[in-house]
Amino acid sequence: MKHVIAIYPGTFDPPTNGHLDLIQRGSKIFDELIVALLRNPEKEEPVFSLSERRAMLEDLVRPYDNVRVEIFGGLLVDYAMQVGARAILRGIRAISDYEYELQMALMNRKLNPDLETVFMMPAETYSYVSSRLVKEIVQLGGSVHGLIPELVEERLQKKLNGTRRPALRRAAIK
Ligand code: PNS
Repeated sequence: MKHVIAIYPGTFDPPTNGHLDLIQRGSKIFDELIVALLRNPEKEEPVFSLSERRAMLEDLVRPYDNVRVEIFGGLLVDYAMQVGARAILRGIRAISDYEYELQMALMNRKLNPDLETVFMMPAETYSYVSSRLVKEIVQLGGSVHGLIPELVEERLQKKLNGTRRPALRRAAIK
């Protein structure tokens, strides 16, 4: 019997309900799923430190026996070899994600032809949710209730606005 280990890599700054939706789906089809947090993203400075993101993700994956959180650096394909993973899980929300994801998947395949990238679609409710937009909205006082886990919402609110209070416009969004 094959035991398939998959990696779900990302920066998760912060984790959203879209990420969580994918973790839930991935946990059903892979024997083991490693949520792999990139140590040094080349993008902008993250809002949450690596240990803060790890702690949030660990809380979120607790219900899933076959999911764990790890931190990785360097090439994803090298990390996949180290942990014996045969698949990379990535989410595609809309056609706009496709180009970047295709490029990464083909580059990773070039680097290691034995590693497959598996794309899954999050529930359509989350198809417009991104970590970047969530941060922008909270910073400007809007509500992201229902789009990110509550524990993340509280911490993001505190981090960006220095308060644990929910956003003022929560009631405006159903
Ligand atoms: O959540 P993100 O920022 O879309 O995740 C991007 C991530 C972490 C999957 C990507 O940047 C990555 O794999 N980085 C590790 C370095 C690497 O292997 N780069 C070559 C990718 S083809």
